[in-house]
Amino acid sequence: SETGSLSIIVLGASGDLAKKKTFPALFHLYHQGFLDQNEVHIFGYARSKISDKELRDKIRGYLIDERKAYDKVEALSKFLQLIKYVSGPYDSEEGFKRLDKAISEHEISKKSSEGSSRRLFYLALPPSVYPPVCKMIKSWCTNKSDLGGWTRIVVEKPFGKDLESGEQLSSQIGKLFDEPQIYRIDHYLGKELVQNMLVLRFANRFFLPLWNRDNIANVQIVFREDFGTEGRGGYFDEYGIIRDIIQNHLLQVLCLVAMEKPISLKPEHIRDEKVKVLQSVIPIKDEEVVLGQYEGYKDDPTVPNDSNTPTFATTVLRIDNERWEGVPFILKAGKAMSSKKADIRIQFKDVPGDIFKCQKQGRNEFVIRLQPSEAMYMKLTVKQPGLEMQTVQSELDLSYKQRYQGVSIPEAYERLILDTIKGDQQHFVRRDELKAAWEIFTPLLHRIEKGELKSIPYKAGSRGPIEADELLKKAGYIQTHGYIWIPPTL
Ligand code: BG6
Repeated sequence: SETGSLSIIVLGASGDLAKKKTFPALFHLYHQGFLDQNEVHIFGYARSKISDKELRDKIRGYLIDERKAYDKVEALSKFLQLIKYVSGPYDSEEGFKRLDKAISEHEISKKSSEGSSRRLFYLALPPSVYPPVCKMIKSWCTNKSDLGGWTRIVVEKPFGKDLESGEQLSSQIGKLFDEPQIYRIDHYLGKELVQNMLVLRFANRFFLPLWNRDNIANVQIVFREDFGTEGRGGYFDEYGIIRDIIQNHLLQVLCLVAMEKPISLKPEHIRDEKVKVLQSVIPIKDEEVVLGQYEGYKDDPTVPNDSNTPTFATTVLRIDNERWEGVPFILKAGKAMSSKKADIRIQFKDVPGDIFKCQKQGRNEFVIRLQPSEAMYMKLTVKQPGLEMQTVQSELDLSYKQRYQGVSIPEAYERLILDTIKGDQQHFVRRDELKAAWEIFTPLLHRIEKGELKSIPYKAGSRGPIEADELLKKAGYIQTHGYIWIPPTL
């Protein structure tokens, strides 16, 4: 592996994303020994004129709870010492020249025998400034070629608002950096059970013959949050739940559930298969969409009173290929719902000629709980234990907390940032993938914007509009009655 100087530059250092996700992930990597004290330096860049100490104080409270994590306090202060701050605008040569100077000084001081100049730029910024910032980085801050190394940039969604603006952004950035230098983060790809999908599907004989239209009746990928858009109303109202969650997070999960087996585990082979799935999705029909908006959403002063922006959506996607024709993939996401969870639910068809039919509570389902409390469970029918010949719905349960006691599951951002340092793009979104994702949702998004589809009001803290449950039913989902999965407690 590579050695020598590694500079991680967080642009937008005092913003929400940097404080809540980027710096904590860096700290955890540091604490676990993935960032070598002798090689790494961290830079924060933003407009406000503050000192190194002020930045450190701003982020400190987000890294650990110092009252609880006594064992980490020492590591924390060492970590904070690694952070330097440079202030400047996002479009000024002068600011980025100063940033380059600060990085270079550190590279020279850390120059080992194999000294290199590895520079990772993390854009924790609104996408409107991606183009100027990328231009500045390209002009003034790329790695010093005589020292070797590389320059990589990490960007976060929203990557545009539709196909056209997304492509425009891609081509602006694409003129400055090559695709292998660009890491488009979708943090769902860093979640443990999302990463497990490939192993689950292709390393197990159980699933191979079942994973198709002959056996699977429908697939649901569901995201719920039990809080609203608190404090983010301004951002959210421009984007809505489809752009915020479905077009990226849930669609990425869909790719992993539906794609064909890649030729190998090489990142490009995997991403090739994901693109093919996206390109096989046929246009979404209006009657297979239900939009909702929770009551009270418009009380946020940053949200216009006549907003039609959905905070909830259920959409049915149809993949027109040999494996999946006729199988609805139901993507559902909502804010201000009754619970907070994300799962993949694969419902199997009925047993043909079923002699137990009249006693049954429901179909076979395979559920992958992404969060909270990671788990996989298979719902199946067994004989009710006892003297009588009765059937009952039960489960085979692999709950991670129980099965992997003492193993701590890394945060998505931790894993993904480590990948950017290693140069592994498997869990990042490629440009053609992004384009295909926009192609799926752009016509629908435009119809919503024109007011052709309306968001139905629903009560905050509910299941969302009942129309969504009706759509599920129409798509062929059959609810199980009288059974709930109870996650094991330790
Ligand atoms: C973000 C969305 O991408 O994902 C947020 O912008 C959402 O609206 C968040 O709350 C959910 O992420 P997680 O990891 O908490 O499920």
